[in-house]
Amino acid sequence: MKDSLFIKAAFGETTGRPPVWMMRQAGRFMKEYWDIKNKYSFLEMCKTPELAADVTMLPVNLLDIDAAILFSDILVTGEAMGGDLSFTANIGPRFANPVRTQKDIDNLQVNVGDKLQYVADAIKVIQQRLNGKIPLIGFAGAPFTVMSYLVEGGSSKDFKLTKLMLHNEPAMAHQLLSKIAQVTADYLNLQIAAGVNAVQIFDSWAQALAWDDYKEFSHRYIVEIISKLNRKDIPVISFCKGSSVFAPLMAEAKPDVISIDWNIDLLDIKKRIPQGMAVQGNLDPHILYADKTVIKDRIHKLFERMRGEPGFIFNLGHGIMPDIPFDNVKYAVQLIKEYSY
Ligand code: CP3
Repeated sequence: MKDSLFIKAAFGETTGRPPVWMMRQAGRFMKEYWDIKNKYSFLEMCKTPELAADVTMLPVNLLDIDAAILFSDILVTGEAMGGDLSFTANIGPRFANPVRTQKDIDNLQVNVGDKLQYVADAIKVIQQRLNGKIPLIGFAGAPFTVMSYLVEGGSSKDFKLTKLMLHNEPAMAHQLLSKIAQVTADYLNLQIAAGVNAVQIFDSWAQALAWDDYKEFSHRYIVEIISKLNRKDIPVISFCKGSSVFAPLMAEAKPDVISIDWNIDLLDIKKRIPQGMAVQGNLDPHILYADKTVIKDRIHKLFERMRGEPGFIFNLGHGIMPDIPFDNVKYAVQLIKEYSY
């Protein structure tokens, strides 16, 4: 895999064109996803290796993307620790037993590798199907983002209860974050042992935090996780929504790649992180709703801006929305694959 465009770019090398994959590429914007989803629940799909492999392969076969991402969810760690997790249409993820007291935190389990074995099994099936064609990215949620779902009991707009715990009960928050961090490091190492070729840490809601809180309650645990990874030959990608602000700090955790949101000029931020560290990003996903001429113009502008820069992976600044037209995503991928510097 070390000769693939994606792994080369992730390790800071120059490539003839940027490799392309998209966050949330294995999902709802594809009719073929719904053909499967209409027959099984989301968690059934995650926990049945053949089904997880079927969904992982959809963007590989339909879009001819440069990297596959494991079909799963960031919340499976929370479930393995004892969270009563369900996903409901229009509501999203829900933990029926939110974690809000010392007792709730004490009850969370940390040796949960057995409960996540289905992910290792899925990775093996997916790698058989990929057959060396392109790399497979594994992933996990960052402790702060996973904590927010456990504490709120689901998605939240303002993270009120989570931030209250950070501010009023910091010692308790640290116990919870430490437990999640331990599980997350073990879980990513389990994925690496099962055969993924790269890993990405998703801190989707870090942007809700003030700088000092980000440092104390998020960044510090990402440093801990990355330092524990068996990462030889395995690039580590650190994503957060808020990276346009936090990237210089994220770099201190020593990932190989920082995935950047769309609020900043990609070259400017790349110049502010250590030389040799790659960037991934950073098209506003809303551009994929727009006319094809706009899609082409924005992608070409981004590529011209990054001309000559080693270590650049094309991605969106956040995940694909479920109602983005498939045809536009396909057009964008084709355009990128035809590009050459
Ligand atoms: O990227 C991929 O295509 C791989 C699969 C993947 C899913 N979730 C599948 C999924 C990945 C990488 C994730 C990560 C994830 N999950 C994140 C971080 C990435 C991000 O977008 O910030 C977060 C915050 C979650 C939590 C989560 N899971 C939410 C909020 C929801 C529901 C609402 C929504 O709009 O995303 C899920 C469910 C989920 N995870 C679906 C899929 C395909 C939809 C399930 C369905 O069909 O109903």
